[in-house]
Amino acid sequence: MKNTRRNFIKKTAASSVLFVAGGVLPQFSAKSYANILGSNNKINVSMMGVNSRGNALAQNFASQDNCNVVHVCDVDSRAITKCLASLKERQTITAKPYTDFRKSLESKDIDALVIAAPDHWHAPASLIAMEAGKHVYVEKPCGHNPNEGEILVKAAKKYGKVIQMGNQRRSWPNVIEGINALKSGAIGRIYFGKGWYTNNRPSIGIGKEVAVPEWLDWDLWQGPAPRKNYKDNIVHYNWHWRWHWGTGEALNNGTHMIDLLRWGMGADYPTKVSSNGGRYRYQDDWETPDTQTINLDFADNMSMSWEGRSCNGKDIAGSTVGVMFYGENGSMLISGGNSYTLYDLKGTVVKEVLDDTVIDPRNKSNPAELLDALHIQNMFDAIRNGDTLNADIDSGHKSTLLVQLGNISQRVGRSLEIDSTNGHIIDDSEAQNLWSRAYQEGWEMKL
Ligand SMILES: NC(=O)c1ccc[n+]([C@@H]2O[C@H](COP(=O)([O-])OP(=O)(O)OC[C@H]3O[C@@H](n4cnc5c(N)ncnc54)[C@H](O)[C@@H]3O)[C@@H](O)[C@H]2O)c1
Repeated sequence: MKNTRRNFIKKTAASSVLFVAGGVLPQFSAKSYANILGSNNKINVSMMGVNSRGNALAQNFASQDNCNVVHVCDVDSRAITKCLASLKERQTITAKPYTDFRKSLESKDIDALVIAAPDHWHAPASLIAMEAGKHVYVEKPCGHNPNEGEILVKAAKKYGKVIQMGNQRRSWPNVIEGINALKSGAIGRIYFGKGWYTNNRPSIGIGKEVAVPEWLDWDLWQGPAPRKNYKDNIVHYNWHWRWHWGTGEALNNGTHMIDLLRWGMGADYPTKVSSNGGRYRYQDDWETPDTQTINLDFADNMSMSWEGRSCNGKDIAGSTVGVMFYGENGSMLISGGNSYTLYDLKGTVVKEVLDDTVIDPRNKSNPAELLDALHIQNMFDAIRNGDTLNADIDSGHKSTLLVQLGNISQRVGRSLEIDSTNGHIIDDSEAQNLWSRAYQEGWEMKL
């Protein structure tokens, strides 16, 4: 069955408290809802990076009644073949394959670029797409380093394009309801928030320098990152754990959770950031921490903390991923799914809003397809009707920055004082050097 919004509503109406009560998703006005259903005016997208998450997103975009996936771009020819085959099940048109996404962007047929390439590509590709006049759906994190996020915030204004970041929980109805409850004072003033993610990831071993496989354009895979010789344990996925391309578990999963905390607590920039941890479990090529706690202090007596355990999957509060808000009158849990639970100060459940949409937070590519469709539709509403994005680049950058600051603190080995008016690091030149990165010549991000 096609994953349309109509099906989503059918599938969830029986189980979700929200839908029983309301019937229509709260973030969609009746007008925008009517505009989408039955419209022949399709939004045409090009996918960049379709091995895992990008393949799942391609299927999700193609399943929307008002969208066609017209181009599929990847530097791995096998990933293109796999994605084109999976798209056949979801749409009638045949997408065109591209190795170089810049060629796809030359086409007038494209309205938006969907970026699910590795993290070092997110901001440079977003900028190139906006320069080419396209809207952008960029996976989290929006940048490999803080400077890239700041450039994207300016670029979105300069080019007047819609850019939605892939922190999709911002479009999940029960999560929205829970955050609204917090903002209405459900647990009083919130002064502490904790987020976490746990998994049992295996070692990535010690890579060997080998010939570049014939299915891969290694030069274009590296793109903006200064050149390195090819090794057999980077492509795919394991680049996440190498600072040159990836951003560690903190930005891989922490971005989602810190974003929820920042949203619910109404926090912007911190005053102080620290991080502890390291690559503790295995000795291999994995450089980023597999065990990490990031602590962020904010003005007005408020702090938040993130715990990542990549190699010990013991849950916290019954969930392998989640956030807990602690307030003067109680607490609220938002676990990995489209649900929330309110507790009083003794820890007794006061209210529970659940949704039986199946979510698997450890599914690397597609933990919650039907819910993610709402995030996609919110982007389409912004393109079509000028509706407010649920995860625009201003908020996406702020949430990403909090975690990036944690990683910078981790790398320099000390806590950082932060200017709470703009999120910049105060008086620490070594840490400030990590605000940006070196680029491969010709790939510098210029606005
Ligand atoms: N929002 C979410 O819930 C969620 C879930 C999973 C992954 N992600 C994000 O999606 C991104 C991709 O993750 P993944 O697990 O699919 O990684 P992956 O390594 O499995 O896939 C990345 C793909 O990008 C391709 N690629 C690299 N350079 C390219 C280029 N220049 N042009 C086109 N394609 C290129 C690779 O060949 C590969 O096919 C990551 O940034 C990750 O953080 C988000």
